Amino acid sequence: MAEQLAADAFQEFDGSSQPPVPENVAIIMDGNGRWAQSRGLPRTQGHRKGVEAVRAAVRAAGELGIKTLTLFSFSSENWNRPADEVSEIMGLLKIFIRRDLADLHKEGVRVSIIGARDNIPSDIKPLLEEAENLTRNNTSTRLVIAFNYGSRDEIVRATKKIAEKAASGELKPEDIDQDMISGALDTAEWSDPDLIIRTSGEQRLSNFLMWQAAYSEFVFLDCLWPDFDKVELQNAIEIYHSRDRRYGGVKVAKAGA
Ligand code: FPP
Repeated sequence: MAEQLAADAFQEFDGSSQPPVPENVAIIMDGNGRWAQSRGLPRTQGHRKGVEAVRAAVRAAGELGIKTLTLFSFSSENWNRPADEVSEIMGLLKIFIRRDLADLHKEGVRVSIIGARDNIPSDIKPLLEEAENLTRNNTSTRLVIAFNYGSRDEIVRATKKIAEKAASGELKPEDIDQDMISGALDTAEWSDPDLIIRTSGEQRLSNFLMWQAAYSEFVFLDCLWPDFDKVELQNAIEIYHSRDRRYGGVKVAKAGA
């Protein structure tokens, strides 16, 4: 399958025109705390400023024609942060959905949420559902918010779904293949990320989209998340375009082709 992808991409891109933007971009928004601390501010101020960067990123993704933008907003491990910081991030997410949902809907953005739903605060759950339901039929950018998300947890949940079907006799273990596993993940409805960006200079995946990142290109930007904007996104896409994607094969497919 990967070789076929590379072959298709190689054939489609003749190198004579501007390569298209990556269809699916995922971002690990990192550096809010350091942005605030470097200004002598509490970490929570960094998260507040980070929401402005979220707005800028969604707008820029729409303008650039990115089909799917996934933002890592809160990991299943982030509950271990100090209670006031967790509460600030929850509050910001609520404010974001309450204030921005109507505008996102007007712009045709479809909101999808990935992550475990069973242990999230009771005041957040209906807001996430409302965002998904209201924007369900929208067809411009798909904004995927990874909330209470951890890749290992997602894989465990997917494995349980498949194991339950095997236990009930609905499928045989030998029927299990990569497509079935992809189809049981939270991201089943859309393609894998072409480009994964992490801000703040850190270079790790931190339990984000580990299955889906098999053939993603990684771009690590030095800018802290609150400073992220359209120029930074374009910079990351330019770096992406300089990469050769081989999908495990030998043919060279220019990224974005
Ligand atoms: C990482 O910076 C950032 C987070 C864990 C939270 C990101 C949350 C937001 C931007 C706000 C809510 C999101 C949406 C979608 C409205 P860090 O605190 O780890 O920074 P540091 O590494 O400098 O300490």
